[in-house]
Amino acid sequence: MDLKDLTDHVCVVTGANSGIGKATAIGLAQQGARVAMVCRNRDRGQAARKDILAACSHDRIDLHQADLAVQSDVRALGERLSATYDRIDVLVNNAGVFEGHRSETSDGIEKTLAINHLAPFLLTHILIDRMLETAKSHGEARIVNVGSEAHRGVRIDFDDLQGENGYSGLRAYGRSKLANVLFTHELARRIHETGVTANCVHPGVVSTNIWRGTDWLSRIARLFNWFYDAPETGAEGPVYLAASPAVHGVNGQYFNGTEQAKPAVAAFNEKTAARLWRMSRELTGMPVGNEKELL
Ligand SMILES: NC(=O)c1ccc[n+]([C@@H]2O[C@H](COP(=O)([O-])OP(=O)(O)OC[C@H]3O[C@@H](n4cnc5c(N)ncnc54)[C@H](OP(=O)(O)O)[C@@H]3O)[C@@H](O)[C@H]2O)c1
Repeated sequence: MDLKDLTDHVCVVTGANSGIGKATAIGLAQQGARVAMVCRNRDRGQAARKDILAACSHDRIDLHQADLAVQSDVRALGERLSATYDRIDVLVNNAGVFEGHRSETSDGIEKTLAINHLAPFLLTHILIDRMLETAKSHGEARIVNVGSEAHRGVRIDFDDLQGENGYSGLRAYGRSKLANVLFTHELARRIHETGVTANCVHPGVVSTNIWRGTDWLSRIARLFNWFYDAPETGAEGPVYLAASPAVHGVNGQYFNGTEQAKPAVAAFNEKTAARLWRMSRELTGMPVGNEKELL
């Protein structure tokens, strides 16, 4: 795969201590990038940082602790990243969960929605100014949302966005991943021709910790583990979208690994995307309806 030299670039990767996020962090670090790892647990983050340092030839690997289920943590993280780095070239919104049972965050929001959709939505809002500046001074900046083929066959239920009227882990996960694609489309429309691009990628079926939130699925997942891709293979799509010259300027697209693909029809519904955007702003405590604002 032909990738850019990322020396002097800053790449933020959420969920960088495990699975696809860790492998993505390694891939970007190996291209010379300073990697800002976002991890919720300091010990797990430090252990992963050691592995990333061992896999690349420099020491520009920073660890930032934040629980993305907690909006005040996401805000503090975004502000810290903007204050620490004078450029942010890449944001990989990768952290995600599968929750077998319904539970709520300390903000009172269903966890899958909070972590898989609202956290990247909010973090992107906070980092966008720094990324716009980066694009202006250095030619481009890229947002990569890690989605999933699981977005197919579901729809956003605006009357029950948080699964209060009957929860299914698979449905909640699928909807959060459809939200990732809808968010990518609406974001791409808003940042069109700013030099910042946003794309969404399905990483493949990858052997990671994602199914540990449910007993029966993790047992099934373990049975088929031999069949899944390794995290390094799962990271090929995110690394490609973050660093390949071939996708310079590509905006608002969906990829299956490194191949451009067509997402579900539901992902193209502009009214749904706009409504989800408004509701996501409400749920993250941001004012709604100022169309003069880019985001
Ligand atoms: N594996 C697959 O087959 C597959 C397929 C399609 C899409 N995906 C997507 O790929 C992405 C990465 O998942 P993965 O498969 O690599 O699973 P994983 O190994 O479980 O990694 C998920 C990462 O997200 C972090 N995370 C979860 N909740 C968090 C929170 N509240 N705050 C901060 N970080 C949090 C985890 O941290 P901890 O280690 O501390 O929990 C971990 O680093 C997800 O968005 C997932 O939906 C995966």
